[in-house]
Amino acid sequence: MNSIKEYMGNDHRACDELFAAAEDAAAKNDWDRARDQFGRFHAATLHHFKMEEEALFPAFENRTGMRMGPTEVMRGEHVQMRDLMQQMADAARAGNGDAYLGYSETLNMLMQQHNMKEENVLYPMADQALAAERDALLLAMQALPD
Ligand SMILES: [Fe+2]
Ligand SMILES: [Fe+2]
Repeated sequence: MNSIKEYMGNDHRACDELFAAAEDAAAKNDWDRARDQFGRFHAATLHHFKMEEEALFPAFENRTGMRMGPTEVMRGEHVQMRDLMQQMADAARAGNGDAYLGYSETLNMLMQQHNMKEENVLYPMADQALAAERDALLLAMQALPD
């Protein structure tokens, strides 16, 4: 089975592709397509956050005893990103391209920095700390409902 870094890194990439498709449609004022692609991006990202917040982070914290470390920082950034995605959903519903693209640019910067920290620091730490339970954990993460 994949490492946590591979599995979750690939999931970041899948979310990035949906994000880019939504941005492209919004930039072309194609709101039917933008809303559809944004909806997929939003759902995929919320599911990704859920895998982290409900399975990966608690497992990491329980194993390492680090509760106020990297997972706490990542949780705080998820709050900011959830907020920005809500603003994007509102802008997409209204067909407001300037607002959508503004929030989308801010989210993308935050999201790329966040993903980099997870892929370079947190996921490798988790792969080490959780080696014994990794496969079961990945299966449990994938089985989480939306
Ligand atoms: Fe995250
Ligand atoms: Fe992530």
